[in-house]
Amino acid sequence: MVTVKPCQEEDIALLREHIPTPGQPERHTTRFERQQHGHSTFLIAWAGALPVGAGELLWRGCSAPEINQHYPDCPELNGLDVWPPELRSRGIGTALIAAAEKLAHQHGRHRIGLGVDDGNPRAAALYLRLGYRETGRHYLDRYAYVDSDGTRHEIADPARFLVKDLP
Ligand SMILES: CC(C)(COP(=O)(O)OP(=O)(O)OC[C@H]1O[C@@H](n2cnc3c(N)ncnc32)[C@H](O)[C@@H]1OP(=O)(O)O)[C@@H](O)C(=O)NCCC(=O)NCCS
Repeated sequence: MVTVKPCQEEDIALLREHIPTPGQPERHTTRFERQQHGHSTFLIAWAGALPVGAGELLWRGCSAPEINQHYPDCPELNGLDVWPPELRSRGIGTALIAAAEKLAHQHGRHRIGLGVDDGNPRAAALYLRLGYRETGRHYLDRYAYVDSDGTRHEIADPARFLVKDLP
């Protein structure tokens, strides 16, 4: 049984300890700061006192312009992750998604979107099962990380955008 709550400042140290962000050491802090600026809600799934998953609801929608121009008012649930991997397939991801949908609805939004990389068919299967539908819109999911040698890598993974209408 997990509970899902917006991140609080005091959660960051626990997140750093329990949910790795390879090559992106400040990722949790960056997400928390975006929430503090009102751009997102950084949702954390808790199993008791342990953080076991996270996802960020970006109120301005997908950051890829080729998607945002078509879905400017559609918040995007981004960067879903359940950790450690042994805890996957137990409903934690579904709980995070449900919490994001509820929050979007409470904020008066009528739909919610998410991107899924072409190489992640299991995640796509979960989203489709939960009522998300294909938009036919494809884009490059861009991010950067720094490897153990200190070299920065810019990544652009092919992805597609899914949406769900909220009641
Ligand atoms: C995708 C993810 C967030 C789903 O969370 P979850 O807690 O495993 O999801 P649930 O238990 O609610 O639902 C399980 C379903 O998730 C999907 N899934 C996607 N990737 C998976 C993975 N690596 N391991 C297990 N299930 C995965 C499957 O469809 C699975 O259904 P199944 O158990 O019948 O195969 C989680 O598996 C994860 O962190 N995966 C790695 C990171 C990732 O791919 N993030 C998504 C980016 S779009």
